[in-house]
Amino acid sequence: MPVSIVIGSQWGDEGKGKITDLMSPDYDVVARYQGGANAGHTIVWEDEDGEDEEFVLHLVPSGIFHENVTCVIGNGVVLDPKAVLDEIDKIQSLGIDVEERLKISHNAHLIMPYHKAVEAAQEEERASASDDDAIGTTGRGIGPAYTDKFARSGIRVVDLLDRDVLRQKLRRSIEEKNAILQDIYDAEALDVDRIVEEYVEFDQQIDSYVTDTSKYLCNALDDGAHVLAEGAQGSLLDVDFGSYPYVTSSHPTAGGCCTGLGVPPTEVEQVLGIAKAYCTRVGNGPFPTELDNEAGEQLRQKGGEFGATTGRPRRCGWLDLVALRYTNMINGFNDLAITKLDILSGMEEVKVCTQYKYDGKKTRRFPSEAQTLERVEPVYQTFPGWEKDVTDVRRFHQLPAEAKDYLAFISEYLGTSVGMVSNGPRRDQIITDVEVPATA
Ligand code: IMP
Repeated sequence: MPVSIVIGSQWGDEGKGKITDLMSPDYDVVARYQGGANAGHTIVWEDEDGEDEEFVLHLVPSGIFHENVTCVIGNGVVLDPKAVLDEIDKIQSLGIDVEERLKISHNAHLIMPYHKAVEAAQEEERASASDDDAIGTTGRGIGPAYTDKFARSGIRVVDLLDRDVLRQKLRRSIEEKNAILQDIYDAEALDVDRIVEEYVEFDQQIDSYVTDTSKYLCNALDDGAHVLAEGAQGSLLDVDFGSYPYVTSSHPTAGGCCTGLGVPPTEVEQVLGIAKAYCTRVGNGPFPTELDNEAGEQLRQKGGEFGATTGRPRRCGWLDLVALRYTNMINGFNDLAITKLDILSGMEEVKVCTQYKYDGKKTRRFPSEAQTLERVEPVYQTFPGWEKDVTDVRRFHQLPAEAKDYLAFISEYLGTSVGMVSNGPRRDQIITDVEVPATA
């Protein structure tokens, strides 16, 4: 049973890219199963001169920096062909071979310029409504691309390889979207010919990457390969389990892995949840532990909490264990990796939400419906902070007692072990001899 899944357990940006990159050398294949270029997975390493180098991946899996790893973009991803080709160029310019090591599913749906145009018009319309209910999307066309997929009118990667089919499908789609843009949103129509001519040109550039990735993965598993499945965004943004409608349009949760890659659930051995030592959220929607004060600003500045894809400041708040318990339940995490512990150093006290108060009653139930979540009040347990900068710590026992107690409390509350603690952006800033087994 050799599939392991790495999943964001909060609202995304938990540091999945770093953990996937770290785990990659132990795997033969790293495969992305959902989302699109809305993700931003940041990898930081030290170059030969000891300088930190950074690369933000949006579509290519985070295993690409390890030469023995094959990377797969699965059928569950919505692929912006321009964005992926641009990303491949940038990675190749670092001297890394992508051509031989990246496989793109023939069944993945494409994101086209009209998806972004429709999304922009929809968001503007929502924002101008009296109750301003814009989602605060990343503007990458994700929602409209998945809408077309499920409306059975989407265009897939395989269609890029046949110019006549692509021309015909594109014309029909653009004409339909132009009617929507003009008649419903009073927005500008797109130039059909320009888009068709631009996109038919991608066939030769993308051809060598395209394959039946489900078949490739299942064969590899039969041959004994180990596959690391990489989720994007976070469980609380899942279209079914997140705070709908303030969610993304795919399934970052564990179930999304099997449908997004075409691998059987019986092959899944490990489900690793990634949680930040506090919480952040970008975009709109309820966020019970949000700190609209100096402590929140301290987390934002010290944690560099600005979107890796859009640059938007992230909303920051205390760790929400009610929410984490919920995503732990849905995903069945075997283990947790806690990231950005170093950011909490220097806080006088550290709070953790252990219950919600709703209608005068305390509860540990997480209500995913946005209208209820908006109204809950967090009930906190307060821990003493620690002064010590922990970025150089490599062994668990070197952490301040307060930090160890904090980690032990998280593990105990959830009944799930913590196997890794990340204490800085670089690959070497990781503690793996963590001694906080699940006790609940
Ligand atoms: P979309 O995925 O662009 O449609 O955006 C829907 C919601 O998900 C918005 O609140 C976005 O800010 C959020 N979102 C999408 N991708 C990410 C991500 O990679 N990290 C954090 N939030 C994300």
